[in-house]
Amino acid sequence: MYKKVIKPILFRFNPEPVHDFFISFGEFLGGFTLGRNLVSLFYNYRGPDISKTVDGIKYRTPILLSAGFDYNGRLSRILSALSFGGEEVGSVTARPCAGNDRPRLTRLPRSKSIIVNKGLKNDGVEKIIARLKNRPRAENFVIGISLARTNDASSATLPESIADYAFSLRRLTEEGVGDYYTINISCPNAYSGEIFTDPDSLEGLFQVLDKISRANPKKPLYVKMPTSVSDQTFKELLAVLARHKVEGVVIGNLMKDYRKINVHDASPEKFQGGLSGAPCFDRSNELIALTKKEYKNRFTIIGSGGIFSPADAKKKMELGADLVQLITGMIYEGPGLINAICRSLAVAPRR
Ligand SMILES: Cc1cc2nc3c(=O)[nH]c(=O)nc-3n(C[C@H](O)[C@H](O)[C@H](O)COP(=O)(O)O)c2cc1C
Repeated sequence: MYKKVIKPILFRFNPEPVHDFFISFGEFLGGFTLGRNLVSLFYNYRGPDISKTVDGIKYRTPILLSAGFDYNGRLSRILSALSFGGEEVGSVTARPCAGNDRPRLTRLPRSKSIIVNKGLKNDGVEKIIARLKNRPRAENFVIGISLARTNDASSATLPESIADYAFSLRRLTEEGVGDYYTINISCPNAYSGEIFTDPDSLEGLFQVLDKISRANPKKPLYVKMPTSVSDQTFKELLAVLARHKVEGVVIGNLMKDYRKINVHDASPEKFQGGLSGAPCFDRSNELIALTKKEYKNRFTIIGSGGIFSPADAKKKMELGADLVQLITGMIYEGPGLINAICRSLAVAPRR
């Protein structure tokens, strides 16, 4: 039904208003019992227990919505009904961001991908704290918060950028909002680039963040890793993180290898931003395997990038992912994908 009827209609429209519509509709449905029950009837997983406890946090299912979809934290009441065990809200920044110039999202249907040049559009940490604080949510539905640095000239330098991340993390922990936090160092379309994918800068960032995260030992800290870097750089970044209070890594973010785009996809005249979806799959898997091989169980691994089927999710778990995240697969395959993954995990041997 979704792929044959709904998707062809949705794909006729610009992706950003479609995204905005689903945020408003999802928030509306999540706001009352009947709306939640209705969605649950069609999409909720009700099979054998596939819950998982990771870094002391119990997830009802090990499938999370990736950062970037619910960037303002408006869907936390409905996502459990779609079988998600949690979500990553954000990326959230210290101050509100208007985002980059439009068009910020471009579908590449033949490549099963989206070019994302959103530029961290979000309401800013204070408004998102106010929205999420004391908002009821389903049992064992986990809310992680992804943090990025404000996308404007106010956080262009290294010290300003570190202070920007530290402000958001401090405010969230002070208010007790969020079950875990992910430091997004790999947004490919923000002001002054990915400055923390340099190991020395990353060291400077975590010397500051350590103080805040050590004061909040029950809130795991993860890092959203870049994938368009060499294995050598990736290993150097992991070596920095291993010295700090960082429980895990999300592998990984959007990728920038435009050669992965199918030649029949109409692409924008000027490429800006990163690719989601299928082009991310292989590189994400390689880096999950590399991390597991080098660090065994030192890091929790959250696998993200190009999950379009239960087999894709299982592949990441077999390589070492403790949890998986997705966005683009849900857009291309429909919201039933999450339930399908859950059902397939229920019949697979547990890791
Ligand atoms: C529209 C969109 C916006 C995104 N924004 C963010 C973001 O703000 N922060 C972040 O860490 N990742 C962001 N991402 C990357 C996703 O979290 C994810 O890592 C990536 O899309 C690969 O997963 P997928 O193939 O399942 O979409 C975004 C992705 C999409 C499609």
